Amino acid sequence: MKEDRREGFGSSFGVLVAMAGSAVGLGNLWRFPYLVGQNGGAAFIIIYLVFVVLFCMPIMFSEFIIGRRGMANVTRSFSNLAPHSGWWIVGALGVLTAFLILSFYSVVGGWSIRYLVNALQFKFNQNGMDGFGATFNSFITNRTQPVFYHLLFILATGTVVVLGVKKGIEKFSKLMMPLLFVLVLLIAIRSLTMSGSGEGIRYMFRPDFSKVNSQTIIAALGQSFFSLSLGMGTVITYASYVSKEENIIKCSTLTAVSDTIFAIIAGCAIMPAVFAFGLSPQEGPGLVFVTLPYIFANMPLGGVVAILFFLSLFLAALTSAISLLEVIISFATEELHINRKLAVYGSIVVISLSGALCSYSLSEGTRLIIGGKPLFDFLDATTSNYLMTVGGILIVLFTGWKLGKRAVFDELTNQGKLGIPRWLLEVVLFTMRFIAPAAVAAIIIF
Ligand code: TRP
Repeated sequence: MKEDRREGFGSSFGVLVAMAGSAVGLGNLWRFPYLVGQNGGAAFIIIYLVFVVLFCMPIMFSEFIIGRRGMANVTRSFSNLAPHSGWWIVGALGVLTAFLILSFYSVVGGWSIRYLVNALQFKFNQNGMDGFGATFNSFITNRTQPVFYHLLFILATGTVVVLGVKKGIEKFSKLMMPLLFVLVLLIAIRSLTMSGSGEGIRYMFRPDFSKVNSQTIIAALGQSFFSLSLGMGTVITYASYVSKEENIIKCSTLTAVSDTIFAIIAGCAIMPAVFAFGLSPQEGPGLVFVTLPYIFANMPLGGVVAILFFLSLFLAALTSAISLLEVIISFATEELHINRKLAVYGSIVVISLSGALCSYSLSEGTRLIIGGKPLFDFLDATTSNYLMTVGGILIVLFTGWKLGKRAVFDELTNQGKLGIPRWLLEVVLFTMRFIAPAAVAAIIIF
């Protein structure tokens, strides 16, 4: 059978860095800090952490189990585990979601390349905030420039994916993730040593629950799914390349912990500097592309920090885009029997077009408006608020009820070889069956 010759990850470290590479992305460096800024700082962080533990962990275990046991791309993993049923549709939904996310995600990835290029030319030298806001705005609403950078970004993504799981994804992640960690840490240290940074730290770690409302809850839920790459099959796809010896609970937990650490460090890299300059943390999506360049232009050593920062943003986005593309490629190679090269090139063409549409939708006088929002924002909102959360519910329900107790325990303990305490297994199963699906459904509905 073809499945026997499937490629796989070479080592536990490789699995961890690839999984963490998928999780750590624009979600951590770009979205998390601005959501923290807009939603009351520490209060948001606490709610976010609760969601990660209660809802995201069970879903991550479930995806891991489906992928490693199903041993195939995201649709076939479902049909291998539940033949002659309609569950493969959840997988197909995942492939579609991956495509939709990649379309807008790689546009932002393109912005990070553009800002990295600016940083390398020490271009951040206007002095007013307004100047930076105007520059950013005129760049993203331009009809051609962002499309060009988007194309570069998707080409970079394809270049790694075409090399395969071990020689491409694993090797690249092993080099880049440690580098990314060091870079983000350096920036945080610089930011924390600025005078006046204390206020930013207080903002991040002293909860103010008066700012919490239903919007905060939705934002925290969407962000936790998005940041951990859940609900659409990235983890299923990667897990299908993982050996039967790997400890699922340990690996998933380490992935979630690294993702959270990256998010918090990114917050510590950004918030203290924002407060040190007496700026508003509530800038929203422009925080990283407007507020930060202003700070870089005005702080000692800012030119160098700018290079480190936009390089980090680019690398983080790249390793995540790689995982999204792999969902599509494993599907195309195994289900449509297209070879890897052709699948990658074909996807690059399609995503260049869909991404260009997302980018155009931000330009002046565009007609690409859906439900009152530019296509770009529409895709961002629909994927995190609906597709991924609904996908997540279906995935835990599948694992908890359809696969059932026996299979779940077998996978989590590697057929009893890992001495995992019974109570822990029961708790995990209980959250999979009841807590995660019910709570996530309740939040979507209300
Ligand atoms: N987790 C990534 C980030 O935080 C984005 C990402 C990669 C993603 N793969 C995903 C989001 C799958 C949802 C689903 O930037």
